[in-house]
Amino acid sequence: MHFLTIDDLTTDELATVLDDAAALKRAQADGTPHRLLAGRTLAMLFEKPSTRTRLSFEVGMTQLGGHAVFLGEDDIQLGRGEPVADTACALGLYADAVMARVDSHDDLETLAANAGVPVVNGLSDRAHPAQTLADLLTLREVVGDTGTVAWVGDANNVAASFLVGAAMAGYDVRAATPPEFGFEESVVARAEASADATGSEVSVGHDPEAAVAGADAVYTDVWVSMGDEAEREARLAAFEGFQVDADLLGDAAFMHCLPAHRGEEATAGVVDGPNSVVWRQAENRLHAQKALLVDLVA
Ligand code: CP
Ligand code: NVA
Repeated sequence: MHFLTIDDLTTDELATVLDDAAALKRAQADGTPHRLLAGRTLAMLFEKPSTRTRLSFEVGMTQLGGHAVFLGEDDIQLGRGEPVADTACALGLYADAVMARVDSHDDLETLAANAGVPVVNGLSDRAHPAQTLADLLTLREVVGDTGTVAWVGDANNVAASFLVGAAMAGYDVRAATPPEFGFEESVVARAEASADATGSEVSVGHDPEAAVAGADAVYTDVWVSMGDEAEREARLAAFEGFQVDADLLGDAAFMHCLPAHRGEEATAGVVDGPNSVVWRQAENRLHAQKALLVDLVA
């Protein structure tokens, strides 16, 4: 099994990963050994920079008694033109699983088709489901099992996975994006199908005030994702009015996958303020991904 999008898991499997993540978080805090992947290796391929994803997967494998190998694109033959499919074959010969951060989601699918071991998405242009696992663990901790969450800003990779995943976990989700940077119809359809199954509601629009009204948590991400730099000026103009400031946030929890651009998608006062749970999200990357790796590999 692979984990390329959040709904590669069933709703029940997602709930199990989150339960396991909470248990592993307690075990780590208590100092209870949990070397569930002793002798196992994760190959980690990066075509883009990363702080949290790299560290949380690598440290997670160490805590599980296994090992992780960091492979920057230009450190391996992929950077000199070896095909993605051949790279996948090679990684699968040595590693028990592959985690990859790629420019194009299509390359993740090629990796998955050829590696012969589970492939995990560490961020693509279309999705960031490993982030969503941490986000949902965070929501469980700070909001509870039910509630309303709002997405304000770009309908990017993080947003697409969160919209679907939050609906799978039973939260009502409301999103506000500029019309020209809205969600793909297929993403909204997947979120709506999940919401139908769990009894939650999904709404997608263009009004930040409407999206956040009564929300328990408000989530945003950068306006210029990696790979979108050429659109920077157009994006900054389109996102005017979508900044999360103290007034828009109100009493809700503030969520961000990080890194944050203070003064663009959110004010510094919000990112660093009392309602911010951004560092809890970052910590939960570790626990959620350990649970995922155990479920995929052990
Ligand atoms: N949130 C996230 O994926 O962060 P990094 O880019 O630092 O890995
Ligand atoms: N949307 C951002 C997330 C980075 C973790 C990007 O793709 O650059």
